[in-house]
Amino acid sequence: MLRIMTIFGTRPEAIKMAPVIKQIAADPSMVPVIVVTGQHRTMLQQVLDIFDIHPDYDLKIMGKQQTLSEITSRVILGLDEILTEERPDLVLVHGDTTTTMAAALSAFYHRIPVGHVEAGLRTWDTHSPYPEEMNRMMTDDIADLYFAPTQLSKNNLLKEHHPESRVFITGNTAIDALRTTVRADYHHDVLATIAQGHRFILLTMHRRENQGQPMRDVFAAIKEVVLNTPGLDVIYPVHLSPRVQAIAHEIFDGVEGIHLIDPLDAVDFQGLAARSFFIMTDSGGVQEEAPSLNKPVLVLRDSTERPEGVAAGTLKLVGTKTSAVKAAMVELLNDPQKYRAMATANNPYGDGHAAERIVRICRDYLIHGVAANA
Ligand code: UD1
Ligand code: UDP
Repeated sequence: MLRIMTIFGTRPEAIKMAPVIKQIAADPSMVPVIVVTGQHRTMLQQVLDIFDIHPDYDLKIMGKQQTLSEITSRVILGLDEILTEERPDLVLVHGDTTTTMAAALSAFYHRIPVGHVEAGLRTWDTHSPYPEEMNRMMTDDIADLYFAPTQLSKNNLLKEHHPESRVFITGNTAIDALRTTVRADYHHDVLATIAQGHRFILLTMHRRENQGQPMRDVFAAIKEVVLNTPGLDVIYPVHLSPRVQAIAHEIFDGVEGIHLIDPLDAVDFQGLAARSFFIMTDSGGVQEEAPSLNKPVLVLRDSTERPEGVAAGTLKLVGTKTSAVKAAMVELLNDPQKYRAMATANNPYGDGHAAERIVRICRDYLIHGVAANA
């Protein structure tokens, strides 16, 4: 039996690794070994519960104001014993968090091959997003198998001279997950607090490089637009990072129409996203999901590693300046033609069967030493 270890630690990795874990478990030639680092606690547990995933190991590394060095060193030290004892045939990591990069490095130190799910995303700016761009480049330097979601991410890997025979276009597993989370009969209590006939924007913002003034500038724009637009609400499930919590409450507390709520599980978040008027976010994963939900997204960043969504027309890169954010919001709220163009673009991130391809490729590679693209 092939022993496939998945290692992940934060909410987005868990959501996008869940379909892969289910697929490994369903494969008669494979045994899944599930390791969580616990870089996130509550936000990770929400995903584990929704997808009914029971980790074999939990490093429980999260601290209140954790630094990048703390996350990195705790993951590497914590994985040493597990990798020594388990010696899996392959380690799979996802995306670009510090868990991802440190887990890939640990596997390399133990001479265990690494598969990178969601490989090849690039902004070509190592400080945006920070530290994620460096994390994914380092993970791709270490990896043996690359699961690129799109042709563009494959091209990025080839530009860096990763061997084409190990690079596979699979689609993004975010779309696989979405197939199981969005439900027609969805309801959440927060919807009852929004007056009949009001439109609402779903907001998330958490990136390290946006914490501080950029976040304040964006929130000032949102506050002003809400106060000046009758019938408009904002729902903001606030990330549990103390830095984010502090700024969100400083600017939004007491503003009528802005609803600050706890982070939602994936079913709740994606259910609300499907009912929103549009989405504002600096999240990576949300940029992938919105096109499938036919929702325009104002991206609160200066660069994106997901240009496919910009080219398709769903995503608009607005940055974090107050004036630019206000202008983009007002345009979407008042120009039905612009709105329609963004809401009806095609989803460029796959057909919802990425996990099947990834697991098939892992099996072929481990058994035969080669694998073909789908
Ligand atoms: C991390 C990832 C980022 C990803 C994001 C997804 C890194 C460096 N960053 O950023 O790429 O986009 O996750 O959300 O890997 N906290 C809790 N409970 C939780 C989760 C977080 O209390 O369930 C608090 C803790 O105080 C923690 C802080 O949030 O110290 C920051 O968490 P951390 O994982 O360091 O950074 P994120 O901004 O979540
Ligand atoms: N998400 C969620 N609850 C929330 C906000 C987001 O389940 O309250 C989901 C969202 O649907 C997406 C993922 O979390 O699948 C994105 O994670 P996040 O924004 O934390 O990280 P990023 O994608 O930016 O790394």
